Amino acid sequence: MEVPCVAVDRTDGEQSRQALATAGVLDDDYQIVHEEGTLYIPVTDPTGVPAEFETTSRELPPRRTVQTPADILGYEPSLERLGEVVIVDEDDSERAHEIADAVMASDLPARSVLNRASKIKGELRVRDWEVLAETDNSDVDRSPTETVHREYGHEFLLDLDAVYFSPRLATERHRIVQQIQPGERVVDMFAGVGPFAIPAAAAGAEVVAVDLNETAIKYLRENARRNDVSERITAISGDIREVAADYSEWADRLIMNLPHSAGEFVETAVDLAGDDCVIHYYDIQHDSDPFGPGIETIRAAAEPAYEARIETEHVVRSYAPHEVNICLDVRLSRR
Ligand SMILES: C[S@@+](CC[C@H](N)C(=O)[O-])C[C@H]1O[C@@H](n2cnc3c(N)ncnc32)[C@H](O)[C@@H]1O
Repeated sequence: MEVPCVAVDRTDGEQSRQALATAGVLDDDYQIVHEEGTLYIPVTDPTGVPAEFETTSRELPPRRTVQTPADILGYEPSLERLGEVVIVDEDDSERAHEIADAVMASDLPARSVLNRASKIKGELRVRDWEVLAETDNSDVDRSPTETVHREYGHEFLLDLDAVYFSPRLATERHRIVQQIQPGERVVDMFAGVGPFAIPAAAAGAEVVAVDLNETAIKYLRENARRNDVSERITAISGDIREVAADYSEWADRLIMNLPHSAGEFVETAVDLAGDDCVIHYYDIQHDSDPFGPGIETIRAAAEPAYEARIETEHVVRSYAPHEVNICLDVRLSRR
């Protein structure tokens, strides 16, 4: 059906939608449509449209209950959501902005849209971000990169600009947490904002969570408080190689999620291990032999003092062509 609407440049979409909503003329009964760089935004009363807009009329489909970015774009964009932050992964800047504008104009609850602007870098495993879009009518006073993410019943406040976090590991973290028994002593050697440590504590473990990134530990403490497990987590900002001396032979379980360089920390893991200790060792290797190098490194560090039994060889996800992110669950038993 032909309905009154305004025609605006795609890049002005979110700002225009908000201006029309403020003027009280945005028509929620019809969908916003994108055609060749122009957005057609339906209005209830063309005479009430602010003067800076060009009014026209157009065949617009009635609005379904929820309008997705794909409805606006005409194709399914690749998006990841972390709370109200939406992440696109686009090399083409124009396409990235087109997707961001569609996200903001859609019914997806989005406070900001970010694009990955670098690879994950350095010891702290943080990347740069480009803010493609952000709402200016949010009730919360947060930077566009800070968000609250929910995973398996726990909530995590984090700032992507300052800490590592990947929602893609949710299933893997759950696999580990399900193995934890109440009363276990767990050291999360590279804890980040706590996505292993907090559910582990919630499962009844006594957790020591360590990270070199002071900001990550600040968020981890806040997340422990939010999830009501502060009394079972000791959060330490520092290098695990230095912290380990205080927890020698203490751990029943070790989580080693630093896949590119976990091999350099296996001696530290053995120092932390109690008489019977399971290590969750993450690694990234060529798919021709994904488990061999890790097994060799662990055996070299642990034997002969411990027997090292490989309980699980698990591919977490494909990382790059011919490279896989894997996890070895290894039980060390003192001889
Ligand atoms: C891949 S991230 C994993 C974070 C968290 N486990 C998660 O799943 O989100 C690795 C973390 O190890 C930390 N890190 C790097 N070197 C470290 C060290 N020597 N001691 C303690 N933490 C370290 C980084 O700051 C980063 O937060």
